[in-house]
Amino acid sequence: MDGIAEEAVEILLAREKIEARVRELGVEIARDYRGRTPHLVGVLKGAWVFMADLIRQFDFDVTVDFLGITSYGAGVHSSGEVKITKDLDVSIEGRDVLIVEDILDTGRTFKFLQDMLSVHKPRSLRLVTLLDKASRRVVDVHADYVGFEIPDVFVVGYGLDFNQRYRQLPDLRVLRSQPSV
Ligand code: IMP
Ligand code: MG
Repeated sequence: MDGIAEEAVEILLAREKIEARVRELGVEIARDYRGRTPHLVGVLKGAWVFMADLIRQFDFDVTVDFLGITSYGAGVHSSGEVKITKDLDVSIEGRDVLIVEDILDTGRTFKFLQDMLSVHKPRSLRLVTLLDKASRRVVDVHADYVGFEIPDVFVVGYGLDFNQRYRQLPDLRVLRSQPSV
């Protein structure tokens, strides 16, 4: 693909580091949910690579579903507007729901999901996010499980995109040249 070398050069988190942390998260989450069947809800599209790795850490029953959400236009700045592009397939009533996110940024997306999903009366509702840009938070929300806290830089790879590109990169990289939006 053209442009990757110039635009996304700096590795923030190498694949081995991600792999090791996902394994630790798996242990932590497994400890909390043992004896139950958590229902993992992945937020498309950014979280699917992380979710695929996370789910393989569990040696007990889990079920999965996906929500399609779009909160970004074509740039790097959140519009603050969240739109559902794919709804849940099955009911979450009475379920131990674990939302799986790629990154918690302003917190607006998670706040929206929390409000929307709690209406459907899950038994519990928690969030695991691979990345947390805590310094960018404008809404008062927090994740129950965090992979890495990262600085205010725009990252791509391991499922995360910029304009739908770079999701296939195995490492998490900093996008260097950000066109102004
Ligand atoms: P929030 O509503 O501001 O918390 O936005 C969270 C969503 O914004 C994430 O699920 C990502 O899809 C997207 N996002 C925020 N920061 C980044 C980034 O650095 N790289 C790629 N996507 C990002
Ligand atoms: Mg997302």
